[in-house]
Amino acid sequence: MSDPQRVAIVGTGARAQMYTRALAERDHTRVVALSDVNPTRARLHNRILTDEHGRAPATFWHPDDVARMLDAERVDTLVVCTVDAQHARHILTGLEAGRRVVTEKPMVTTAGQARRVLDAADRTGGDLAVAFNYRFNPLHRAVRDLLAAGAIGRVLSVHFEWLLDVRHGADYFRRWHRDRASSGGLAVHKSGHHFDLVNWWLDAAPVTVYGAGRLAFYGERNGVRHGLRRDYARAHGSPEAAGDPFALHLDADPELRALYLDAEPDDGYVRDRNVFAGGISIEDDMALVVTYDTGATMTYHLTAYAPWEGYRVAFNGTGGRLELDVTESGWAEPGGAHAHLDAASHRLRVRPLWEPPRDVEVAVESGGHGGGDRRLLAALFDPDAPGRETLATPRDGVNALLTGLAANRSFTTGMPVPVADLL
Ligand SMILES: NC(=O)c1ccc[n+]([C@@H]2O[C@H](COP(=O)([O-])OP(=O)(O)OC[C@H]3O[C@@H](n4cnc5c(N)ncnc54)[C@H](O)[C@@H]3O)[C@@H](O)[C@H]2O)c1
Repeated sequence: MSDPQRVAIVGTGARAQMYTRALAERDHTRVVALSDVNPTRARLHNRILTDEHGRAPATFWHPDDVARMLDAERVDTLVVCTVDAQHARHILTGLEAGRRVVTEKPMVTTAGQARRVLDAADRTGGDLAVAFNYRFNPLHRAVRDLLAAGAIGRVLSVHFEWLLDVRHGADYFRRWHRDRASSGGLAVHKSGHHFDLVNWWLDAAPVTVYGAGRLAFYGERNGVRHGLRRDYARAHGSPEAAGDPFALHLDADPELRALYLDAEPDDGYVRDRNVFAGGISIEDDMALVVTYDTGATMTYHLTAYAPWEGYRVAFNGTGGRLELDVTESGWAEPGGAHAHLDAASHRLRVRPLWEPPRDVEVAVESGGHGGGDRRLLAALFDPDAPGRETLATPRDGVNALLTGLAANRSFTTGMPVPVADLL
């Protein structure tokens, strides 16, 4: 048997746990090194390795020492799972060292970072996979296959609405995402899901983006205006947060407590800010009009304060219309940690011209992005698994980002933005 693939993870927060567990479960992979600004969070990953899986612990490295870590631990693959704005730095370190790199979404957050990563990937011929997991959801695969097979002819336009609810959507206004410098705003943070899907479905790249986006619901002033604000900075230790349906109580959830509350002395990061307090520099409501190089257009709306979570996307083609409706959570309960799903959580319907509509049955798993995460992990780490061709390339990573970056620019200028101006 060949030697196991030696993997390091930089950014050992919530999402990275999926990688740590998946890599520990496999005989042909080893997590050999962990890196984070926060050693307490990294230690929790070591506990996953040792206590849950009986594996050896990984060594710990400060993010400034990732290049040394790659050599010292003979790392084959570097998984980048830090806050979004830090991805580029670690991707570049991995590529320059000639290692395989897997990065979480979005690939990077600025045009300058995108240029540097594309240059490095071209120059080094390096292997950089962008973990756009929604491509691996069987429903999304079915949409792509139907469109490619001409089920509705040539696609002329797309109408796409995405709702984030007051549980999961609100979380972006408590965490580091609320700071544009860390996340790029939701147009960038979500670009690796929503805009990549459209590019992939249509086999297209964006050309121009016009948008109106604003902080309409969360934030201090909105909270006062809407009569929703309670006066506290963070929920933990604040009597005013008791009974606030928007408050997240870290000490009520053992995992959140261990990952964030107990880790605060290391880096001072606060995970439970008041969504109606100041300091938010991102939008929660955005409307876009996008044109594509195939000639198609898209109207898109993201709402981050909805009562339910999911999306509706419709494709209008020369031979009919294809509609996908997905409920990811039917409603949100105050302070709730879990999604509530109805039995029928999705419907994929083809409506050919002059014919009765037909529903397309697709088996979808609950959780893990409809089974997308499991398939993504197999494509990334299992040599003979299907789906490698579905992995996003650096160019795909940039094309997804460009819609988000152009949207952000349009929000401030009020003008349509040619995507070619950005790079
Ligand atoms: N594909 C998906 O469906 C999905 C889902 C969740 C998160 N993500 C992505 O995963 C990444 C991590 O998100 P998360 O939810 O785990 O957040 P998190 O806050 O739980 O974890 C982020 C980690 O990065 C660390 N970090 C901060 N600055 C760093 C630096 N300079 N160098 C190294 N590490 C640093 C933090 O200490 C923290 O441990 C993000 O890029 C996010 O977009 C993807």
